[in-house]
Amino acid sequence: MDKNNFDEEKYLAILSDILSPSRFSHTVGVMKKSVEYAKMLGADTETVKIAALFHDCAKFLRPEELLEHAQRYGIEVDEYMQRTPHLLHGPVGAALAKEKYGIDDENILSVIEKHTLGSLDMTIEEKIVFLADYTEDGRKYPSSQKIRQLAKKDFPLALIKCSDESIKHLLATGAYIHPQSIITRNGFIEEYKK
Ligand SMILES: [Fe+2]
Ligand SMILES: [Fe+2]
Repeated sequence: MDKNNFDEEKYLAILSDILSPSRFSHTVGVMKKSVEYAKMLGADTETVKIAALFHDCAKFLRPEELLEHAQRYGIEVDEYMQRTPHLLHGPVGAALAKEKYGIDDENILSVIEKHTLGSLDMTIEEKIVFLADYTEDGRKYPSSQKIRQLAKKDFPLALIKCSDESIKHLLATGAYIHPQSIITRNGFIEEYKK
């Protein structure tokens, strides 16, 4: 697959078939926002566009299907993912994007893989889709709107706030928090100090 010759229309049609209308419109929103951020930051627009298109391609899978796919693709399933298989939709989505849709660019695949939990030392393209997922224009909650504005002025600070808000939401709903979310957040803070 040549990312500069990517047939966007073809894959948009495929994704609109497999995703619910609201998930598809979220996907298009993440694509637009990611390209906007990439232009603002001088990152690779094609990498973020293609990654955003596929980022939630495994989101519609049921928990048992996510676990099955993870096993088939040799994806490590830790105890948190075992309890909350939804956390696997990033890595399973990357594996599906590669196997089913021929996306073989490792940079794109890692953006898809990391879009939920993040990691330390993320690439700029990984950070962009991570933040666009939370701040695309279809996200209407007040924290998204605030962070969307902040991202234009201070992208690294917006990443910290995005992690904070996601963790706050997990606390408020009594959900498990994957330790990687904390590690990712602390990494953003560490980078911000530099
Ligand atoms: Fe997602
Ligand atoms: Fe998403």
